[in-house]
Amino acid sequence: MRIGVLGLGTVGRQVVEVLDLERELFAARLGEEIEVTRILVRDQDKPRPQSMRSRLTYEPDDILKDPDIEVVVELMGGFEPAHSYIAEAIRRGKAVVTANKEVIARSGPDLSAAGERAGADLLFEAAVAGGIPIIRSLQESLAGNRLRAIYGIVNGTTNFILSRMHEDGVSFDAALAEAKERGYAEADPSDDLDAVDAARKISILASLAFGGWVDVDAVDRIGIRSISAADVREAKHLGAVIKLVARAQATPDGLALGVSPTLISRSHPLADVSGAQNAVYVCGDPIGELLFAGPGAGGPATSSAVIGDILDAARARRVGGRSVALPLEPAPLLPLHAHQHSYYLRLRVREAAGTLAAVAEAFSRAGISLRSVHQPPSSDDEAMVSLVTHVTAREQLERAREMLRAEAAVLSEESCILAELDTDSQRR
Ligand code: NAP
Ligand code: HSE
Repeated sequence: MRIGVLGLGTVGRQVVEVLDLERELFAARLGEEIEVTRILVRDQDKPRPQSMRSRLTYEPDDILKDPDIEVVVELMGGFEPAHSYIAEAIRRGKAVVTANKEVIARSGPDLSAAGERAGADLLFEAAVAGGIPIIRSLQESLAGNRLRAIYGIVNGTTNFILSRMHEDGVSFDAALAEAKERGYAEADPSDDLDAVDAARKISILASLAFGGWVDVDAVDRIGIRSISAADVREAKHLGAVIKLVARAQATPDGLALGVSPTLISRSHPLADVSGAQNAVYVCGDPIGELLFAGPGAGGPATSSAVIGDILDAARARRVGGRSVALPLEPAPLLPLHAHQHSYYLRLRVREAAGTLAAVAEAFSRAGISLRSVHQPPSSDDEAMVSLVTHVTAREQLERAREMLRAEAAVLSEESCILAELDTDSQRR
């Protein structure tokens, strides 16, 4: 079985190394050898491993139009030209394995329908949560469930940054530099920091779990740039940690979708997921609650999922299709103003008589009940107040925030993120 690989970066290089190293093992498992015959790269001056040099090409058609290549593995990243190369490979009847969540989140249903027409498999286990086998699990092992919710720590870079800030007191910038160095971050780390990557991943998971296509632009998104050492201290004070959590919750009025830094209680199953680890917490019936956890970013984790898909695609060439079917029809969505959550806010306020009363008044007038209020010791004329609300509709929260913006005692809103201090079973 001949394979062409598009891209030889953090993931591509690891995939080719393992396929070369484990050739005999995989041949024994499959009953035939797998050989990477061509590798597409872009930069002619970059140093490459000696063992891979003779297979390099700078011309995509050397892979896409080679009739002997049956499986194309796309590990370039970005939307174009990756999307066109995948579409072309499928059109030519080749199986495609990709780790590209941008392409799948934007064009997954069209590509999977094209694959069905061409008899070409499209597999993308590595696109969500690195080495955790969550795509297959949702599609197959959990197909007998009616799912209620999925909560995921699905971005390794941001989880790494928040963990380093929380556990080791490292600064945001230093932690980001470390995440890039380790190969976790996207080519443009804004995709990680602004929750774009996590939004793509939850849209893919929700589309598989809830049976309708979820447009990535419908996912409410708050990134981690506003999280500071002060928020980390407040989280500790509340017995909580801050994680970037992507969520898809089934409600009678549609799916509620979003990604936000989220204060979660230390006793929550997601609280101990540290560093570049990812976790996906699935709630449904009859399964109850299920936690998948493991390495979520980096070459080794991702190559595990990519190679699993390659072996599957290779096997399927002999015994029939293995594609992951994505729905074409859109999923019904709950409008953002109706989303119901607890929120954590941190405000910079004047240190003066009546300030707390004014802040409490804004929440009261918006019909929001406060769960906790904390004011750490402060300087003479300024103070910081952090608040956690009880569950409230987003439109009520926005009303309170608007009143706070107009309140002279409030100097600025420093943070406004979700607080999910209870587990699914505690909430029910
Ligand atoms: P990367 O290190 O930036 O490598 C990208 C590779 O693709 C490079 O070899 C680059 O060539 C090649 N490439 C990019 N554009 C090209 C073009 N137009 N023509 C030819 N070659 C091109 O990326 P990565 O971290 O391995 O990520 C690859 C994919 O896996 C992305 O979709 C990413 O989102 C996904 N992913 C990554 C991780 C992770 O932890 N890194 C985890 C899960 C999924 P040059 O070497 O010549 O520059
Ligand atoms: N940049 C991504 C992350 C790579 O940090 O999770 C894995 O998809």
